[in-house]
Amino acid sequence: MSVLYLDNAATSDPKPAEVVLAVSACMRDANANPGRGAHRRAVAAARIVYEARVRLTELVGVADPAQVVFTAGCTDALHLALRGLLGSEAGRVVCSAFEHNAVWRPLRDWARRTGGELVVIPPGRDGAPLDLDALAGAARRSRLCVLTHASNVTGAILPVAEAAEICRRHAMALLVDAAQTAGHLPEGWEAMGASLVSCSGHKGLLGPQGTGLLYIRPGVDLPPVRLGGTGGNSEEDVPPADLPERYEAGTLNTPGIAGLGAAANVLLRMGLPARRRAELDLLDGLLRNLRGIPGVQVIGPAAARARTGCVSLTVDGWDPARVADVLDQRFGIATRAGLHCAPLAHRTLGTFPEGTVRVSAGWKTTPSDIEAVVRALDWVARHQEADVCASI
Ligand code: ALA
Repeated sequence: MSVLYLDNAATSDPKPAEVVLAVSACMRDANANPGRGAHRRAVAAARIVYEARVRLTELVGVADPAQVVFTAGCTDALHLALRGLLGSEAGRVVCSAFEHNAVWRPLRDWARRTGGELVVIPPGRDGAPLDLDALAGAARRSRLCVLTHASNVTGAILPVAEAAEICRRHAMALLVDAAQTAGHLPEGWEAMGASLVSCSGHKGLLGPQGTGLLYIRPGVDLPPVRLGGTGGNSEEDVPPADLPERYEAGTLNTPGIAGLGAAANVLLRMGLPARRRAELDLLDGLLRNLRGIPGVQVIGPAAARARTGCVSLTVDGWDPARVADVLDQRFGIATRAGLHCAPLAHRTLGTFPEGTVRVSAGWKTTPSDIEAVVRALDWVARHQEADVCASI
């Protein structure tokens, strides 16, 4: 049975053919260590990294490519940002009620180690995912605000530009986790006003796994966390002051970066506004049709434009994990069920501990794919879990 892949919030599939080709071409033709030699292959590898950085910087809306650092993923980028900014000093940090464990666990670890205070900003009473008044109230004397740009559970988009203005007024750093929005939303990172922005390369950016980015606004004081060889200034026993080398100790994932650079080219050609329009059309159809199925509860914002391409739902009388099993085994549809590594978000939404079923569309999802998942969920909602699961 072929697979209808609707788990793009976990990792995008398929990857563009250009990405696959770029990874293998890099391993074949430029298999050397970028920045670690003057021979032709090393120069070719360094050029791949340079060009990928330039393309990606253009795509995410940052003026100076040096301010965008390659990492091993979004978790790695967040680790660098959080460990570097917070160190072992206490104080107060605020975050949204929708943070992924990639933020939540490092923050809880910091709070435990230092006795620091961690304040979770609740959603607004109007259903908005972030209460901006509560953020303004907590901002005074806080060191850092960490916000996911969009929830990986519901797709709800947080008002990061408004939050950035509050943070600026209170001289508080803002770290935005753009894991679910990079490559999806056309808004540029620099214009967003955050101090730092992290993302993974393998989700909306359509690149290989094991790649990620961290944008560091000029003037942000961020000590490097990983120290080691950077190719230059080797006589010094301290990391270089210049970006991006300061944060890129060790051999880079050059094949992955080659693929990510190729993905950036694909997305630049496609245009993020056009991609977003297509995503909104799909989401509109998905939300409208799901609301017409008795027994299906859609979690999160009503309007498609308030979300990225993912929708979480529950089916009355069904464990979400069983729904995902039936979608997979009976209908060949890949979704993700459970807590999505975001227990805080599920507690906020009232869907802890079972979680939800998450349907996440991607760049190749079609309206007929959406019809297929809606038909499958309609079938599930008209059956009893015990009857169906006895036979799978
Ligand atoms: N963070 C990814 C997800 O939401 C893996 O599924």
